[in-house]
Amino acid sequence: DRKIKIAPSILSADFANFGAEIRAIEDQGADWVHVDVMDGHFVPNLTFGPPAVKAFRPHVTTFMDVHLMISPVDAYIEAYAEAGADMITAHIEAGPHPHRTLQAIRATGKQAGIALNPGTPVEAVEYLLDLTDMVLVMTVNPGFGGQKFIHSQLTKIKRLRQMIGDRPVHIQVDGGVDVTTAPLVAQAGADVLVAGSAVFKGGSVNQPDIYGDNIRKI
Ligand code: DX5
Ligand code: ZN
Repeated sequence: DRKIKIAPSILSADFANFGAEIRAIEDQGADWVHVDVMDGHFVPNLTFGPPAVKAFRPHVTTFMDVHLMISPVDAYIEAYAEAGADMITAHIEAGPHPHRTLQAIRATGKQAGIALNPGTPVEAVEYLLDLTDMVLVMTVNPGFGGQKFIHSQLTKIKRLRQMIGDRPVHIQVDGGVDVTTAPLVAQAGADVLVAGSAVFKGGSVNQPDIYGDNIRKI
């Protein structure tokens, strides 16, 4: 049986309190910390530059998973690596050379992920599987937390699990993962579940046990 990891997205945290929020979710059982980087161009929202990610670093004791929703992406890989990412994930739609992008991420010594938007066919990663540590299947269109899970992506996850075969490649799912959809993605073959609103809802750094309850329910 595959061990499922939960990676809360700090996009749903209190933006005035990241250090305490990161400590709270880790104390409450988060396996990874997922950081959503948005550029206002590849996606219609703006979040964290490398200095912000560098400021998160000392608070993360688990694994900092940095999801880059930026285009072009190659020029920023080194900066996010130096900021302290453990995994850097780029979108396959972010440029014409995803193979080069994965090589560039691996050259920094960090783990390399490749993300697929909901409209992108799974076959697009076929020739990238030996260069990647993780494929991220987006189950919403990227840009915002709290959107509705797109069920058609379950077929994509199943096909991807077959394509990966014996390779040591994680399947991460991001978008609309909650108590209802988590079992579906796990059953389809995903092993790293990103969740923003489903982890942070109802809790706070003063009521961190609610984060813990939310994580255990997923
Ligand atoms: C979407 C981001 C996600 C998002 C998930 O663009 O990549 O990580 O924050 O949020 P929920 O779990 O609320 O859909
Ligand atoms: Zn994300």
